[in-house]
Amino acid sequence: MLKGLIFDLDGVLTNSAVYHLTAWNNLAKELGINLTDDQLDSLRGISRMDSLNLILKYGDQEDKYSEAEKEKFAAEKNTKFVEQVEKMTPADILPGIPELLSDAKKQNLKMVIASASKNAPKILTKLGIMDEFDGIVDPATLHHGKPDPEIYEKAQELAGLNADEVISFEDAQAGVQSIKSAGQFAVGIGDKEVLKEADYIVPTTKELKLSEIESVFNKK
Ligand code: BG6
Ligand code: MG
Repeated sequence: MLKGLIFDLDGVLTNSAVYHLTAWNNLAKELGINLTDDQLDSLRGISRMDSLNLILKYGDQEDKYSEAEKEKFAAEKNTKFVEQVEKMTPADILPGIPELLSDAKKQNLKMVIASASKNAPKILTKLGIMDEFDGIVDPATLHHGKPDPEIYEKAQELAGLNADEVISFEDAQAGVQSIKSAGQFAVGIGDKEVLKEADYIVPTTKELKLSEIESVFNKK
């Protein structure tokens, strides 16, 4: 029986995934690295330092910089990202999400955030929906990033639920893999080829209808 929903944040509740990708793409260009669209997309859901390391790998620059230099690049990228976050308002909640959250409230479902972003509390506050959630996984406590199941397992624990009692929402391939490795029901939002391991896929948040997702969940 469905008892809780677990949400990724960037690219699921709001469009901040685009701010992350734009900031990374600009930093990559400054480092002389031209990322393909697929390489850029593969950064979705990946932690800050893992993203930087992946970019350097794509550019064959894995061993070029010291840890201190890499920290500086990551901090620069974060400054650019936070500049965009500061401008966010409740109008930046993606279409379909307010209805989904209110349908979940009506059913007394637990709701937890499973985002790799250290900026998640700030973003949720800007969107005005911080109080809607029963918990936020602190990414600083994680040993492994997505696609490892750890973050979704922690989120489920925070909700006090079992894997077969939750539905989890993601826009990232690494995130869907994380959900499935945790043994949970995955809803993918985005390209159905990229997110094909999900149990239920919609192109955008507009198509999210809790009753429809729940009827597929109940048949599993
Ligand atoms: C994830 C994003 O939610 O958070 C990634 O999808 C991002 O793109 C990661 O790199 C870490 O975010 P932050 O805000 O801690 O740099
Ligand atoms: Mg995401």
